[in-house]
Amino acid sequence: MQRNSTILGIETSCDETGVALFHPEAGILAEAVYSQADHAQWGGVVPELASRDHVRKLSPMIESVMADAGLGLDRVDGVAYTAGPGLAGALLVGTATALGLAQSLGRPAIAVHHMEGHLLSPLLENPSPDFPFLALLVSGGHSMLVDVAGPGRYRLLGETLDDAAGEAFDKTARLLGLPYPGGPHVARLAEAGDPKRFDFPRPMTNRPGLDFSFSGLKTHTRLLIERTGDDDQTRADIAAGFQEAVVDTLLIKCRRALKEARLERLVIAGGVSANTRLRQRLAADLPGTVFYPRLSLCTDNGAMIAHAGWYRRSEAIHATAVNVRPRWDLEELAAVEDS
Ligand code: KG4
Ligand code: ZN
Repeated sequence: MQRNSTILGIETSCDETGVALFHPEAGILAEAVYSQADHAQWGGVVPELASRDHVRKLSPMIESVMADAGLGLDRVDGVAYTAGPGLAGALLVGTATALGLAQSLGRPAIAVHHMEGHLLSPLLENPSPDFPFLALLVSGGHSMLVDVAGPGRYRLLGETLDDAAGEAFDKTARLLGLPYPGGPHVARLAEAGDPKRFDFPRPMTNRPGLDFSFSGLKTHTRLLIERTGDDDQTRADIAAGFQEAVVDTLLIKCRRALKEARLERLVIAGGVSANTRLRQRLAADLPGTVFYPRLSLCTDNGAMIAHAGWYRRSEAIHATAVNVRPRWDLEELAAVEDS
């Protein structure tokens, strides 16, 4: 596939339906994201509801993105889709749609790893980071530190042993009576809180290693709420203390990883990278430069999939078998030779 190809990206791995059209010189030509609201009342994503909502939204969104770009589908050179990791049923909707569309257009399709989509998303920005860099990927399903030598050249330095950072925010939000997804709500409540009023642990920071563990923080929060009650100021102080503990823990591990891997640039991506306090602290307290995608590219979206698909255009195939990879290690990916 040509270097100057226009790629349509489709993301349906969890509870966001994302569609975008990307061109390497013009950038994001048009995009749309639909965040499913039905899950809030259940306190988390209900896989079957997610799949059904993707079915309802995806095709009209593809039409509207093409209309916004002012282009016909015949101008799409390849269709990139999230093949994993994620919810199997949700992935199947995007995959089947992408492969059907690609086939009907006579164009190839490109299977994209969701976390590679996040990992490469800061390269959509200007200035964009040069390789090599350290990537902190913090989303609802994953927390990882990755040594990135180049596109597809990934070495996992650390990951969470239990809850992901976003999951810890979501579970803490639930304990505080806040809706799902909890990250932005906890962050907002924390603004009125005193992060120093309660002592929160910084899990796994006082021993060597780059793995994370966030489930203890959630238990700590639960016990604190039981002990202190939940008047408004106390809830805000708990939110602030919790957020500061997560941010501090991520900061300590990033500093350690930059040193151990001898890297100077840090890229942070995934839903939790939208957190303002995290951005402030990383910018203020870390040596070297920190790169983030814009807020709309932090949480799940189609643009990061179209963009990663462009990097993987040499893997584009005319496929008909609908296969997804609900579990898929980032390190299994092949290096991209010509980016
Ligand atoms: O990357 P993402 O959209 O989906 C996954 O791939 O999981 O990340 C969603 C996660 C949720 O757990 C959400 O609570 C968290 O990102 N999140 C935040 C913020 N915005 C989203 N966490 C902390 N602070 C935020 N501002
Ligand atoms: Zn994600």
